[in-house]
Amino acid sequence: MKIIHCKDYDDMSKKAAAMFFSQIHMKPDSVLGLATGSTPIGTYKQLIKWYEEGDLDFSEVKSVNLDEYVGLDGTNDQSYRYFMNENLFNHVNINKDNTNVPNGKAEDMDAEALRYEALIKSLGGIDMQLLGIGNNGHIGFNEPSDAFDSITHEVKLTESTIQANARFFETMDDVPKTAISMGIGTIMKAKKIVLIANGPKKADIIYETCFGPITPNVPASALQLHPDVTIIVDDEAYATI
Ligand code: GLP
Repeated sequence: MKIIHCKDYDDMSKKAAAMFFSQIHMKPDSVLGLATGSTPIGTYKQLIKWYEEGDLDFSEVKSVNLDEYVGLDGTNDQSYRYFMNENLFNHVNINKDNTNVPNGKAEDMDAEALRYEALIKSLGGIDMQLLGIGNNGHIGFNEPSDAFDSITHEVKLTESTIQANARFFETMDDVPKTAISMGIGTIMKAKKIVLIANGPKKADIIYETCFGPITPNVPASALQLHPDVTIIVDDEAYATI
């Protein structure tokens, strides 16, 4: 694991974006694994800036997102498909047909999970995966549990995640209780992984991810076993290291 200590959110975002910049330059038809949440917004802003300045071309890029809420479709402004359109896809020359997010409205979630897993395989796997991290160590929506989840699957969100997500919804009833997410096994197959985290709330979980025991209670700790992981953290999230 490589840990990059940044001075602030902006610095973290630029360094993460720089990794994707060189990935796209080295392999213009890269398969990028993308993430949602507040953490990656700055990274996407920086990529958009480089695109607007003529330094990045997304025309051959393909993308697969980590997860989606069950029950929300792409027109819902809290869906992850909507988030990706708003925060990246609508602003660069990526072909929307080459962007993939699990279908939260699929009638049969098991079938959707298998379809998504097969899709990633048919693209040749993920070249570079961007990850945020939940306060409880979840990546994608792989919540702490007794065993590492392997492939894409439907997930029951924990109370802590539901509470953390509540800020984005009008009422508690509106907050989705389930999601569909790539599994830890899916994420671990990515050739390169970049995890970003900022702010004091992430400091303890970043320490556990990097130096704690490898346990499904801290899903992100599995990353210790991956050969090419870069953890990019701001000064506050680095505080306990
Ligand atoms: C959600 C997403 C995760 C994300 C996490 C942290 O649970 N499924 O992919 O990493 O939120 O979000 P934030 O970046 O807002 O702290």
